[in-house]
Amino acid sequence: MSPAGRVNAGAAATAAVAAADAPAADAVTETGLQDNFITLGIETSCDDTAIAVMRGERGIMSSLVSSQTEDHSVFGGVVPELASRKHQETIIPLIRMAMSKAEVTQSNIDLIAVTAGPGLMGSLLVGVMTAKALSQGWDKPILGVNHMEGHLHASILAHPSLIAPFLCLIVSGGHTEIVLAREGRNYTLLGETRDDAAGEAYDKAANLMGLSYPGGPLIEKMAQSGDPNAYAFPIGMKGSKNVEFSFSGMKTALRTTVERIKKEGEKLPVPDICASYQRAITEALLAKLSLAAEITGLRRVAISGGVAANTALRDGLRAMGEARGWEIFIPPKNFCTDNAAMIAAAGYAAYAGGDRSDLTLTADPGWSIWSK
Ligand code: KG4
Ligand code: ZN
Repeated sequence: MSPAGRVNAGAAATAAVAAADAPAADAVTETGLQDNFITLGIETSCDDTAIAVMRGERGIMSSLVSSQTEDHSVFGGVVPELASRKHQETIIPLIRMAMSKAEVTQSNIDLIAVTAGPGLMGSLLVGVMTAKALSQGWDKPILGVNHMEGHLHASILAHPSLIAPFLCLIVSGGHTEIVLAREGRNYTLLGETRDDAAGEAYDKAANLMGLSYPGGPLIEKMAQSGDPNAYAFPIGMKGSKNVEFSFSGMKTALRTTVERIKKEGEKLPVPDICASYQRAITEALLAKLSLAAEITGLRRVAISGGVAANTALRDGLRAMGEARGWEIFIPPKNFCTDNAAMIAAAGYAAYAGGDRSDLTLTADPGWSIWSK
C-alpha cells in the first residue's frame, strides 16, 4: 500500500500534465515531460542526508551526501533518534548547497521527489516534512518515492542501456532482495532474506570483531590481506531451490569462532575472518542471483544498494556474467550507497508514469511496492 497522500492517477494525469505544461513539441521527451524538467531529490531514510538536482531523466546537476557515520560509529550502528536530529540540522543547508552547485533557483524546480519509505520513521519524517514545506512555499508538485525503487533506479541512472525486463539484486543495510523489473515499473519480488540483510550481517560482524560502523567497507578493507578459505562460514538456504537468503547462521558461526579464539587467548586473525566471511556472503548472494536467472530465463542482471559497493561482489558478478553470457549492470559505488540522485531518477520515472502526491503525504517506514 502507498503512504497516504500518494496515488497513481494513471495515463490521464500524464496527459494532463503534458497539456498543462504545454511544452514546445521538440522539447518533449517520450515520457511526456519537457527535456529540461528539473527534479529536486531528497533522501533521509536512514543515516545519510542526501540532496540531488537532476535535469530530465538522468542529467545529474548536483548530488550531495552528508554522512552521519562518525556520529553513529561509536554506538556500533545507527541510533534512530540521533539520525533524525542530524537530518534536521543538515537538510536545509544541504538543499541550498545542491541548488547552488546546480545553479538553479526555486523557480527552476519542476518536482520535489522525496523518500517516503521504507526506512526509519524519524529520519523519513524530516525529509517528507521539509519537502512538503518547500512544495507549499514554492508552489511546486511533490512526490513520495519508494527508497527501494530508488536503489533500483541507481542501476538505470548509471546505464542508459539497461531496459526492462531485468533482474536486480538490491542488497543494503536493511534489505536483501531480488526483484524482477518489467516494463512500466511493474516489479515482482522473487525472494528476500528470512532474517538479517547482508549489510546488517557485515555491520554486526564488524561489531563482534571490534570494528566500527558501517562494517561493510571495513571488512572489505581487512579482507584484502586475508585468506578467504581460512574459515568455512555456513551459507544459509544454500540448498534451497527458493530465492531466499539467511545470514543469521553465518553471523552466529562468526560469533562462536571469535569467542573460541578469544577464550583460547589467541590473537584474532581479523583479515582471515573478514576474507572468509566476505566470501561466504558473496557466494550466498551470487548463488541466488544465479537461481533467479535460471527460474526466469533472464540474462540481464543489475545490482544496487550499499553492499553492491563491495568489490568482491562486483568482481564475482562480472565473472559469473561472463561465464553465463549475462549482461551485467553495476552502478558506480557512489550510486550504490544511499544518495538522492537515485531518488530524483525514481521520482522522475514515477511522475512521468502518472504517480502523484499531495500535501497529505506521510512517511511510511514499511512501504513496499513489489508484488509477490
Ligand atoms: O544502501 P545503504 O547505503 O543504506 C541502506 O539503505 O541500508 O547500505 C548501507 C549498508 C551498510 O550495511 C554497509 O555496511 C554496507 O551497505 N556497505 C558495504 C560496503 N559499503 C557499504 N558492505 C560491503 N562492502 C562495502 N564496500
Ligand atoms: Zn538504501
